[in-house]
Amino acid sequence: MARDEGMRARSGVTLAMPDLAHSVHVEVGGLEPGRWYWYRFRTGDQQSPIGRTRTAPAPGTSPTSLRFAAASCQHWMYGNWAAYRRMIEEDITFVLHLGDYIYEAPSSSAAAVKQKVRDVPFGVPKTLADYRQMHSLYKSDTAIQAAHAAFPWIAIWDDHDVENDYAGDRAPGRPGRAVFLQQRAAAYQAYWEHLPLRMAQRPAGPDALLYRRLTFGDLLDLVMLDERQYRSPLACPPAPPALDRNRLVVADSSPELFDTGRTMIGDEQERWLARCLAEPARARWLVLGQQLMFAPFLQPLKAGTGVGTDGWGGYAASHQRVLDLVAARPNRDTLVLGGDVHGFIASDVPMRGSDVRSAAVAAHVVCGPISSRLGAHDRYVAALPLNPHVKFVDARHHGFTRCTLERDRAVFEFRAVDDVRDPGSNLSTLAAFETRWGTPGLRPV
Ligand SMILES: [Fe+2]
Repeated sequence: MARDEGMRARSGVTLAMPDLAHSVHVEVGGLEPGRWYWYRFRTGDQQSPIGRTRTAPAPGTSPTSLRFAAASCQHWMYGNWAAYRRMIEEDITFVLHLGDYIYEAPSSSAAAVKQKVRDVPFGVPKTLADYRQMHSLYKSDTAIQAAHAAFPWIAIWDDHDVENDYAGDRAPGRPGRAVFLQQRAAAYQAYWEHLPLRMAQRPAGPDALLYRRLTFGDLLDLVMLDERQYRSPLACPPAPPALDRNRLVVADSSPELFDTGRTMIGDEQERWLARCLAEPARARWLVLGQQLMFAPFLQPLKAGTGVGTDGWGGYAASHQRVLDLVAARPNRDTLVLGGDVHGFIASDVPMRGSDVRSAAVAAHVVCGPISSRLGAHDRYVAALPLNPHVKFVDARHHGFTRCTLERDRAVFEFRAVDDVRDPGSNLSTLAAFETRWGTPGLRPV
């Protein structure tokens, strides 16, 4: 490890063990805050490429700005990763990855087959060996290698890192809880092995502590949430043999959505989050790094207003409890980042989840997909009249969001690639929004 690319500095020895897929998770203490470091690994006469990482600004310091990229949803099959190739040219200090680092399964629809850009040469993973193989494939792409070598990453998983639309200990079409938990253990283990996560996040069987908090001087208090591991089963399951997957249900005729006993993040994480949000602010901005679209997104159905059961709307009481904690903060200093819907979204967060016209308490940005199949753009746009708090939606492009935090404002730039099929595609700004500290609304820049 070195303070420059000349690589003369500290070194140490660690073991790359087969039971961790030969991954190593080195935690280096005593580094200087707020600066770049370079590192590499050596074994025998082999030497790794040089990687770069950065330490966070020290507690008690007051950085004037901080810039990072928020990314999510990178299906191997449906695109190349020019977004990562271009990301390394950005003036950012870390990558915030909000889930779906891998996809466990291809889509089988005719439209999906047509959009396929490259193959996954093996089946849907179930065992640890399967998930390791999938991660190895993803890591074989030189663009993602370059993005990992260029920046530190802060990552949280979503459903596809294990299985589509799983909820806690259940997955669609898998009645056996014990069998699914074995699969979850395998997926969590492989995820931990292949991402830059600390020993504190190492799974023990099907459990792993991924929710966590990171501070960057007094500018950013980053609270990372795990919205998969502890959640209640999806509400309003369809009659068998239909699988219990995300679907739109009519909110007014689905009381289960509002059941106060159901939870998105589990009681323990909720108590932890309540402490994070209720204590005196540690920084100018509190950012919730989480997987889903956090603001409501109502969709018109023939029978009434539709809500997706897999999103926060499917856990309305749990959602409202978090909204109440955000609303109770003395300053409007909360930003919520999300992924999952395979589009770029800029939105205000209304204080009541059930009333999209209630006052905004936070700004919300959905970062856009790296390469997954796009969301239903026309359907999203058609839903906008029901969602006056949503300022922008685009599910026609792939890319990521460049986030810049200054002391008095935050700016979000939607960085889109021209063509997801082209590994050398160029990047441009699709739209940009800003919010001022103290006033939660987003407005175009
Ligand atoms: Fe996704």
